[in-house]
Amino acid sequence: MTTSIIPVPASNSENAYEQIVVERYGGAGGAIVSGVDLSHDLDDAVVAEIRRAVLEHHVVFFRGQSLTPVQQVAFSRRFGPYSPVPFIEPVADHPEVIAVVRDASEHQPFTFGSLWHSDFSFLEEPPFGSVLQALQVPPYGGDTIWANQYLALETLSAGMQEMLTGLNGVHSARDGYGPEMQGVHNMFKGMSVTTSDDALAEQIHPVVRTHPETGRRCLFVNRQYTVGIDRMRDNESKFLLDFLANHSTQAAFTVRWHWQLGDIAFWDNRCLQHLAMADFVGYRRSMIRTTVAGDKPRK
Ligand code: SIN
Repeated sequence: MTTSIIPVPASNSENAYEQIVVERYGGAGGAIVSGVDLSHDLDDAVVAEIRRAVLEHHVVFFRGQSLTPVQQVAFSRRFGPYSPVPFIEPVADHPEVIAVVRDASEHQPFTFGSLWHSDFSFLEEPPFGSVLQALQVPPYGGDTIWANQYLALETLSAGMQEMLTGLNGVHSARDGYGPEMQGVHNMFKGMSVTTSDDALAEQIHPVVRTHPETGRRCLFVNRQYTVGIDRMRDNESKFLLDFLANHSTQAAFTVRWHWQLGDIAFWDNRCLQHLAMADFVGYRRSMIRTTVAGDKPRK
């Protein structure tokens, strides 16, 4: 089992993949990666190609891996150190793993992560990647959907892009993990979330960020955690953020995954938003997630 947390750079995108098989999955992003067993200690060459696949396709899917929590942590750490996951109690004995569970007894029309978001964008250094594994899946529903934020930016007019480039978003965990949200989290029977006043803190991130690895520009705002636009009045912010939330998550920019047992999705939070569907009342869905550190978004 590897313990290195020095990230391996992506392989050269001019070359064909030699270590893994990468099949494009969705029109707006996503690829299925096969030919690799993630439970093994992976060669740097394999890690470099997986990283490249993530950069090229934004989210990659591995079928039937069924990793232990320790193996999932080892896999995540090949792509960078662990990113802090505030408010959520980790899985017992695995401080770098959180459970994402909806119990069969839950009937509310939402679940953990069911509002469009980029994981923990309220942090000063929001995570690069999230690795999610399906441990128990409902017989139908429970899909995850991602939206490509390169496309979201590129499809705006030149004038709108220019205006947004000068703006900064205010990100906060307050609507997710502020004290008044404790009642909502108490409905999530398989998870332990402790809300706190720490969630009221704010971080400023550019509305248009330059991806630190691809150099491409993308939108970086989301419905869950972007609570305002810096130096704008509330009504102005709300108007613009509503427009951007609707624009950036339209169907044409999305890729949707229907989970099977042991599937793993590994996605790049820097250029995607995502949400979980809560459309499987009466069944249990159980996932574990590890989260890979990122850096401070820059213009
Ligand atoms: C998450 O937002 O990390 C969870 C997504 C999911 O459960 O599909």
